[in-house]
Amino acid sequence: MFKSVLVASTLVATVAAHQNFHQFWVNGVSPGYQVAVRMPPSNSPVTDVTSNNIACNVDGETVPSGVETYAANEGDKIIVNWDVSSHPGPITHMLFGPVDDASLESGVGAGWFKIDELDNVNGTWANQVIANAGGNYTFTLPTGLESGDYLLRSEMLALHAAETIGGAQFYIGCAQLTITGTGGGCNPTISLPGAYNATDPDIYIPDVYYGFDAATYTAPGGPVATCGASGSSPSMATSAAIVTSTAASSGTIPTAVASSGTSKVSSAAGSSSLAASAPTTLAKVTSKAASSAALATSSKAASSAASVTPTKVATTVATITTGGATPSSTGGSGAVALYGQCGGANWTGATTCAEGTCTGMNEYYSQCVSA
Ligand SMILES: *[C@@H]1O[C@H](CO)[C@@H](O)[C@H](O)[C@H]1NC(C)=O
Ligand SMILES: *[C@@H]1O[C@H](CO)[C@@H](O)[C@H](O)[C@H]1NC(C)=O
Ligand SMILES: *[C@@H]1O[C@H](CO)[C@@H](O)[C@H](O)[C@H]1NC(C)=O
Ligand SMILES: *[C@@H]1O[C@H](CO)[C@@H](O)[C@H](O)[C@H]1NC(C)=O
Repeated sequence: MFKSVLVASTLVATVAAHQNFHQFWVNGVSPGYQVAVRMPPSNSPVTDVTSNNIACNVDGETVPSGVETYAANEGDKIIVNWDVSSHPGPITHMLFGPVDDASLESGVGAGWFKIDELDNVNGTWANQVIANAGGNYTFTLPTGLESGDYLLRSEMLALHAAETIGGAQFYIGCAQLTITGTGGGCNPTISLPGAYNATDPDIYIPDVYYGFDAATYTAPGGPVATCGASGSSPSMATSAAIVTSTAASSGTIPTAVASSGTSKVSSAAGSSSLAASAPTTLAKVTSKAASSAALATSSKAASSAASVTPTKVATTVATITTGGATPSSTGGSGAVALYGQCGGANWTGATTCAEGTCTGMNEYYSQCVSA
């Protein structure tokens, strides 16, 4: 009895009002915390669906990204870890690609396709499913993907303020993957920005607190794509070459990641990371060009193994606060962080904002927003 009360209050205390995607695992193995992910400068949401930020969040379009690219195979089990959120809404995953080098792709424009979506099942929103799993969410990469580099976009959409146009909050993070697939491609594809419209019924929900039936909701971006179209699968000879190069790259990439983890710690300590990473980036571009010329031979794998770069991720780590540790807003004590709830009809938590001004979104929800 005591125990369950305690657990419940702990959960409430750690629920963050704003969130970031921090880490992922491929078949149980992770490149590291905030590694191979383009970390945004803050954990604030994107609300302008026409902005380039809707693709890979603020600064997500900057290339070279300075973020390493991690190996995966089609069909692999992916776990993403997000800060937990109490805001109701779906989670979706999309891929952008295949491209030669994920670190050189802004992700802005055409070429995205949806690979996974969880909305509201049996009365439970995706955000709650994720919160119940400590911030983890699991899905699989589709089969029938062309081999190449991809951006993997994870989006948690918070609908608590969707009653107003522009009120829906998009939390977005993009990871970089080199995926080995059997080929075929995926359809339909969409553009970001472009595919979302602020007045779409899955983004602007005037009756979100009155009469809205969550069971009918589907996340923006259209249907989950179908991959592996017939007629374009690679020849056996090509497949064999890909399988060989995969073996080579999966053997070497973890090693490269481990060493980059080490250099990351030192570059985070000092401030010379920009100067240090420039020569590496150049080397990468050169080796990538060499491997492109050789096409899908095993030199591609060699170059991706060699392409792990010490990055600005290290710099970012120092400045991003982990959302899970957001000041609690329970019991009326403490101040509410930006984008946290600070009022509403049945709200019993804190009503002062640590940052921003407490603004009523509707009868049931007031939020700390910046002026
Ligand atoms: C939803 O409810 C149905 C019927 O009770 C059940 O079969 C299904 O497993 C549930 N799905 C989830 C995700 O809980
Ligand atoms: C998330 O999944 C990873 C990989 O399985 C695991 O190591 C980690 O402990 C999980 N996190 C939580 C909070 O369960
Ligand atoms: C958004 O949808 C509205 C209503 O359907 C339409 O009038 C408007 O042109 C759309 N805007 C864009 C940018 O597509
Ligand atoms: C607020 O509390 C009242 C009773 O005190 C309850 O009927 C109502 O459903 C609650 N509203 C929300 C949005 O939780």
